Amino acid sequence: MNILGLSCYYHDAAACLLVDGQPIAAASEERFTRKKQDSGFPVNAIRYALREAEIGVGDIDGVIFYDKPLIKFDRLLRSQVHHFPASFKQFVDGMPRWVATKLRLPKTLKEELNYTGPLLYSEHHLSHAASAYYTSGWDEAAVLTVDGVGEWATASWGVGRGNDLDLKGEIRFPHSLGLLYSAFTYYCGFKVNSAEYKLMGLAPYGQPKYVDTIKQLIRVAPDGTFRLDMKYFDYDKGQQMFNEDFEALMGRPRRPLGDSEMPEFYKDVARSIQWVTEEVMVKLATSVVERTGIKRLCMAGGVALNCVANGKIIRDSPVEELFVQPAAGDAGEAMGAAYVLYNQLLNRPRVPRLPTPYLGPGYNDAEVKADLDRYKAVYTKMERQALLERTAELIDSDKVVGWYQGRMEWGPRALGHRSILGDARHPKMRDIINMKIKFREGFRPFAPSVLEEHIGEVFEIDRPSPYMLLVAQVAEAWLGKLEAITHVDGSARIQSINREQDAMYYDLIKAFYERTGCPVVINTSMNVRGEPIVCTPEDAYLCFMRTNMDVMVCGSFLMMKADQPKLELATAAEEFGLD
Ligand SMILES: [Fe+2]
Repeated sequence: MNILGLSCYYHDAAACLLVDGQPIAAASEERFTRKKQDSGFPVNAIRYALREAEIGVGDIDGVIFYDKPLIKFDRLLRSQVHHFPASFKQFVDGMPRWVATKLRLPKTLKEELNYTGPLLYSEHHLSHAASAYYTSGWDEAAVLTVDGVGEWATASWGVGRGNDLDLKGEIRFPHSLGLLYSAFTYYCGFKVNSAEYKLMGLAPYGQPKYVDTIKQLIRVAPDGTFRLDMKYFDYDKGQQMFNEDFEALMGRPRRPLGDSEMPEFYKDVARSIQWVTEEVMVKLATSVVERTGIKRLCMAGGVALNCVANGKIIRDSPVEELFVQPAAGDAGEAMGAAYVLYNQLLNRPRVPRLPTPYLGPGYNDAEVKADLDRYKAVYTKMERQALLERTAELIDSDKVVGWYQGRMEWGPRALGHRSILGDARHPKMRDIINMKIKFREGFRPFAPSVLEEHIGEVFEIDRPSPYMLLVAQVAEAWLGKLEAITHVDGSARIQSINREQDAMYYDLIKAFYERTGCPVVINTSMNVRGEPIVCTPEDAYLCFMRTNMDVMVCGSFLMMKADQPKLELATAAEEFGLD
């Protein structure tokens, strides 16, 4: 039974293929087209998935789309009519795109893939919920989804039992925690729908001075349900997130997009909105546990990528076990929709917990070598143990190392297959990687990868965090020793790794630990600012050559920057416009 789940036409297009319920392949379209957050029909991701499973279009038993376009269409139409004529411009701008894309999906499937088989439509929050519950491996769990907006819902809660997933309640548009967070993302000078994590990263630098002010925008009930005061917002009727009343309430105009200055005021605003978000999330999680009597919680939706709030839920709510799958945002709904069809509609047996986040394309040594040879790259092919020891030695001697291995990660984080690694103990390593490799703002620290058996010793956390979706404090004994990964408030966004998850990455950090006594390395995604994470060995080599990375390990091949021939390419500054 081959089921293809699709998510597209909104933020992040993605495809996921289940073969007898097992996720064989899942990937975001942006990695293939190299267009960040590509929302177009994911034809490349689909073709990859079919290749990976070694099946053809004719072998697909059913395609399921992640939401219901007609209901979303209904919401858009109704809000346009409600706010007419203020909404007229949005109406004129938005409608033709809808007609041209979502409503033509059957035609697109036929034209792009020659697929004419069954096509079903899930619902947005059901797809989110399913992406977490059906991959959790639990036979009973409470479920919470929180995002910007789907069809009408912006948050939902329910219960999963066996094959049943029942959403029992929801909060509806325009009342949206995700859109409130996005409004503040924009207010603080970052891009909506992509830079929310920057706002989260900025928050620890500020003080929660504006919590009371923000609570004039959002009224939060004791059970975590909320209503926004829509007189401050514009997203339901125009092209803007908020209006002048919002800026008047906050006391200052918004920070211009990409401004180089970051006044204290916006840091305090970031801290305040993060504070309110955490409060709402903890209250919602608490009330879901109280309503269902179940202390295992599956969570999804864009807000579930707020790993600081996730850490708070573990600490401050009655939730005992929390599961968030690595693609908690809209891309992950491709997987969720596929499980809606497989488990809920077809009633097929459940599968164990998501076995791996490495569901994207992988390349063997011959394929890596072919890509490297095209660029006349100078490399040394090494045996596994020698490669691990040499790489650990290079990280220990303060080199910035590209680490490209195996299949690409599913979800927005690099988890040791498309990563840039560095020594977390080196006090300057954060600035070095920020300025020389990533060309990004200096305020955000990097995330650590830690050997799972040491997580409780290095961080104040009592459980693994395999997908980098939990934040915890650095333990007292390690404070001041891991500057590159420690945020200003002493916290870190952790990825733990055990040998079963990934032997190669685990063994590398183990080799580093054996040399140095430090079970932690810096792990940041292999991309430069504004680019998606690399996919192919060619992408990796180009990223290596366009940045000041010192070393690249691609499969069994180790390359030193100093040995490489000059690449006839624009400099990174020209190429990526250091904005
Ligand atoms: Fe969503």
